[in-house]
Amino acid sequence: MRRRLLDLLLSPCCRHVMEADAEWRRAPAAQGAERGAASARGADDVVELGHLICALCKQRYQVIDGIPRLFPAVELAPGVSQTRTSFAWEWLRHPGPRPEDREVFLEETQIPAREFAGKLVLDAGCGMGRYARVAHALGAEVVAFDLSDAALRLADLARQSPRFHIVMGDLLHPPLREHAFDIAVSLGVLHHTQDTQAAFKRVAELVRPKGLMSVWVYGKAGRLADFSTNPLRAGRGWVASHRPLAWLVVGMRHAISDALRLLTVRLPVRLLYALCYPLAALGAVPALKYLTFSVHHDFKVRLIEDFDWLSPFYQYHHTKEELAGWFQAAGFTVLKILPHGLVPKPGILARKTDYGVERR
Ligand SMILES: C[S@@+](CC[C@H](N)C(=O)[O-])C[C@H]1O[C@@H](n2cnc3c(N)ncnc32)[C@H](O)[C@@H]1O
Ligand SMILES: [Zn+2]
Repeated sequence: MRRRLLDLLLSPCCRHVMEADAEWRRAPAAQGAERGAASARGADDVVELGHLICALCKQRYQVIDGIPRLFPAVELAPGVSQTRTSFAWEWLRHPGPRPEDREVFLEETQIPAREFAGKLVLDAGCGMGRYARVAHALGAEVVAFDLSDAALRLADLARQSPRFHIVMGDLLHPPLREHAFDIAVSLGVLHHTQDTQAAFKRVAELVRPKGLMSVWVYGKAGRLADFSTNPLRAGRGWVASHRPLAWLVVGMRHAISDALRLLTVRLPVRLLYALCYPLAALGAVPALKYLTFSVHHDFKVRLIEDFDWLSPFYQYHHTKEELAGWFQAAGFTVLKILPHGLVPKPGILARKTDYGVERR
């Protein structure tokens, strides 16, 4: 981690500034224009191994492999611990960044590419960091935040670039400064925490007034009246003309998936991963592939996506109305709603008002 990151951190125990008990070294990789003024102030100095200490209560937090581990001092709840293990398993096996990541990121965040240059961006739940990498490539300074060891896959990038930081922690207790970020994105994450709405609020608090926040969460059928106003991607006309049927299919799919997950989230991670091999093979069979949770053309990606669906302990589902309500309560104005296919995928881009004050 770079010294600069300390400016953005607060201890998870007291939300107080932290001091480093570690030996800072000059960053060897930071060069040229990237180095500049930050280096002159020593903000560019790095630490690989050491501790951060809460300046108020003196609680110590480890920095290992250059990544601060800022978890609340209490033991993680079993469900959170399972989530952490299963996502680390998943993302440490993922084939890595894909050519389509940039396009998917821009489509799913609904943020124009030009918005990122020079901005401070939080990727809340970065996984192995495919989208944090895109934001960085678009010119942003990025804080990639995650619960799991998946973030280790970004350690080299963080060593190389003074504009890339990694933090491990829990989004329900984010060790980050309020109103610090120009942009916060959270793609497919908040519904995997113990409480989606509470995690949403914590992330929303980190966005500066007039800043942007883009979130998508897993969808559910909800009320037919709401389902009927869901925005659809081009080419999904058949869903539009058969809304009640589509609504029933989505509701049934959800019920079957929930029943299946009662078992799968309790299986040992290795066994579940092995069971996902036949499922991923089925994902290439015409028609039958819709019985699985991924129809991606790459077998390895299907395997990971099937596992991703069946393994995490927490997996909540929401409607676009719920998500929009959370944004409004946190003082944001909704700008765009993400269009999707048959299965709802509530995704919203919103801007914080001048004050970003929660309305009561
Ligand atoms: C489905 S993955 C999405 C990762 C990334 N956004 C992407 O699309 O590639 C969900 C991620 O959320 C992280 N996560 C789950 N609960 C979390 C929490 N309480 N705090 C921080 N991250 C969490 C998991 O570790 C996992 O990497
Ligand atoms: Zn403290």
